[in-house]
Amino acid sequence: MVDYRKEILDVSSFPVEECLKLVNAFNKNFPKKDAYMFLNEESLHIMLKQLDMIKYREFLDGLNISTDLTNKAFDIIDSIGSYGLKGSKRLFSGYNAERKVINRKAKEQSRSKHYYANDHNFSKVNNELPSEYENKIICADSSEFLKKLPDNCIDIIFTSPPYNFGLDYDSHNDTARWNDYFDMLFAIFKECIRVLKYGGRFVVNVQPLYSDYIPIHHIISNFFIQNKMIWKGEIIWEKNNYNCKYSSWGSWKSPASPYLKYTWEFVEVYCKGDLKKQGDNENIDITAEEFKSWVVAKWSIAPERNMQEFGHPAMFPEQLAERVLKLFSYKNDVVLDPFNGAGTTTVVAKKTGRRYLGIDISEEYCKTAQKRIDEADLGQLSWFD
Ligand SMILES: C[S@@+](CC[C@H](N)C(=O)[O-])C[C@H]1O[C@@H](n2cnc3c(N)ncnc32)[C@H](O)[C@@H]1O
Repeated sequence: MVDYRKEILDVSSFPVEECLKLVNAFNKNFPKKDAYMFLNEESLHIMLKQLDMIKYREFLDGLNISTDLTNKAFDIIDSIGSYGLKGSKRLFSGYNAERKVINRKAKEQSRSKHYYANDHNFSKVNNELPSEYENKIICADSSEFLKKLPDNCIDIIFTSPPYNFGLDYDSHNDTARWNDYFDMLFAIFKECIRVLKYGGRFVVNVQPLYSDYIPIHHIISNFFIQNKMIWKGEIIWEKNNYNCKYSSWGSWKSPASPYLKYTWEFVEVYCKGDLKKQGDNENIDITAEEFKSWVVAKWSIAPERNMQEFGHPAMFPEQLAERVLKLFSYKNDVVLDPFNGAGTTTVVAKKTGRRYLGIDISEEYCKTAQKRIDEADLGQLSWFD
C-alpha cells in the first residue's frame, strides 16, 4: 500500500471561497487514487501519488480564480525535485519502493564513501588568485606557468587537453609517444590540483583515441584517483556526430575484430577534498529547469560549428562550458583553463559573471581567445536548446 506525499501551501492571503473552488474542482477532475486536496484552516493540503503536470496546468488555467493562487498551487508540485515517471504522469510516491535499501546511510558509512581519497593531505586554507592573473589570457606552457600560482586559489578548472590524435595545432605536436603524452599531461594536471581550492572542481572533457585502443578517460581517471581526488561523476556529451566512417568495420560482419563507433565524448568531474563547494546562494545562476535537465548526465549538444572561423581544430561549444560552469560553480568564482585554445571556457566565464584565467601555448589561439573576450558581454549567451 503506497502512501501519499503531502505538500502544504499557506493560503492565508487568499479568499476562502477561491480556495474551496480550487479544492472542489480538483477533487472532481482528478481521481482520488492519484491525488486530492483539502483545506485545513489557512492551509491547503495536497495529497499526491501521481499527476500529469500538463493536465494539471491546463486545469488550473481553466479555473476562474486568482492566478497568484493557481501559480502557487502549480509551483509547489512542480518544484518537487524527486519523482518517477510513468507515461505522462510524475510519480511522487512509491516510485522507488522496490529498490529501497534499508538503513542506507549506515550501510554507506560502513562501506566508506570515496575510500580512495579519504587519506589526502590537502590544505583547507584557500588563497586569492593574485590580481595580476585575474581575467587574463596568458600565452605560455602551462607546465611552467602554473608554478607561479599559489596553492588553493582556483574554484573550478574546465579543460579539454590535446588528445594526441595527430591534429594540426599551431604550436603543439599532437603525435607524441603515449608515455611522453601522459607525462606531459600529468605534470600539468598535478599543478592544476595544487592550485585548485579545497572543495574546488576539476572538470575534464576527453575523448579516447579508439583507433589506438587507448582509454584516455580511464587512464586520466586513474591518475585523479591516485592523486586523492574524489570522483563526482561522468557526463556523456552526446554530439550525435554520425560522421564516423562507415567503411571502417574492423572485421566486416564477423566477430573476428568488429570496430566500435562512438558519437559521444566524456566529461569527467573530480573534487578536491570535499564533494561540497562553498558559495553564496545569491551567486547561484542556474535555473530550476536547467538544474533538473542538466543533472541527468547525458547532454545532447552539437559540436562547435565555427572552428574554421576561429582557426582552431578542436574546440568544444560554448553550450558545454555554460552547463559545466553553471552546474558546478558560482558567479564570481575563479575559472581556469590550462589548455584554453580559442578560449571557449574563458569567454563563457566572462559571459556568466565569473573571473577567469586561460593559458595556451599558442600565441595565435591566445589572440583569438582575447578577441572573443573583448567582444563578449555579460549575459550574452546566444544559443537555444
Ligand atoms: C583541445 S584544445 C582546447 C580547445 C578549447 N577547449 C577551445 O574550445 O578552444 C587543446 C589546447 O591545448 C594547447 N596546449 C597544448 N600543450 C599545451 C601546454 N603545454 N600548455 C598550454 N597549452 C597547451 C593547444 O595549443 C590547444 O589549443
